[in-house]
Amino acid sequence: MSVHVVGDTRARLSAVCGMLERTCAVSSELLNGASIRSKDIESIVVSADLRVVETISALKAISARMTRVPKRIFLIEQRTRLATLQAYALGATHVLPQPVSQLQLLKQLADADAPPIAPSEPLSGGQEAASAGAASIASMFSAVISGAPIDVAAAKHAGSKIADSIAEDGLANWLTTVRRHHEGTYQHCLLVTGVAVDFGLSLGMSKADVERLYSAAMFHDIGKARVPLAVLDKPGRLDDRERALIETHPAVGYDVLTGTTGITPEILDAVRHHHEYLDGSGYPDGLCADTIADIVRILTISDIFAALIEVRTYKPAMPRATAYEILMGMKGKLEGPLVEAFREVALKR
Ligand SMILES: [Fe+2]
Ligand SMILES: [Fe+2]
Repeated sequence: MSVHVVGDTRARLSAVCGMLERTCAVSSELLNGASIRSKDIESIVVSADLRVVETISALKAISARMTRVPKRIFLIEQRTRLATLQAYALGATHVLPQPVSQLQLLKQLADADAPPIAPSEPLSGGQEAASAGAASIASMFSAVISGAPIDVAAAKHAGSKIADSIAEDGLANWLTTVRRHHEGTYQHCLLVTGVAVDFGLSLGMSKADVERLYSAAMFHDIGKARVPLAVLDKPGRLDDRERALIETHPAVGYDVLTGTTGITPEILDAVRHHHEYLDGSGYPDGLCADTIADIVRILTISDIFAALIEVRTYKPAMPRATAYEILMGMKGKLEGPLVEAFREVALKR
């Protein structure tokens, strides 16, 4: 296995190289001025302190070359959610907080969850769109946590790449790419965006409407940035307190985005109301049928479907047909004719 190590100090470089030299073909260079020239790298390991501004700029400078490498493991100095998000925003596919043992690192490198792509093979449009989308969602989440401005244009641009990929390669390819390469909340947001776009296309929506849909989908769960990961990623049932915490995310997302340039009233409405049901049993406002906009109804169906079919470490993907049956069973909550129209997207596309 060929591994390229990039570090912000010589000490970090030699620590990582020392762990890998016996089992891998290792090359290395200092982050400042790194070129990542070799075409045969299968994995890259970045060991750097992401609190240093120069480090972030240097990583941004090499990010285009770095994303050509299929597996990108970042070893981060702080065990915080912000540092993790920052690493994903800078192009990581896997993040390990220091101190990392030799065994952990080798295990992560050997792990087959992201099947290696032949390095000579260019990334597919779908993989590129998924990488850009995940990076944009991660950077939005880190902006919410740190109070930095949210890059609305980057999120919309990532959404448009996802829409292009769906239009070109279809939904099934998108689901496979995203479920194989991305984890947790990014995976969910990428799946919702893809499903919503495909639903819009199948309904014959105009380009402008599809644009509205993917923009709303990219931002819909941004309020989850304020929900602790232990709750978000908890396998199994949530207790009342945890459920109440999760249910704050639509209103939090709405508050965070209000007043942000580029965020339309429609996006705000979708962020706040994507968990409302037609019978008034949803949250946070208990809206009823007439007050829920069409775009929100489409997003809600896409959101539930995506949540059911996503892969988590504790949960395999539910078959699409089973997920669709669950939607069919939500009579009174979701719009019947829309769920009927969704059949094609859920089962065939
Ligand atoms: Fe949500
Ligand atoms: Fe969601």
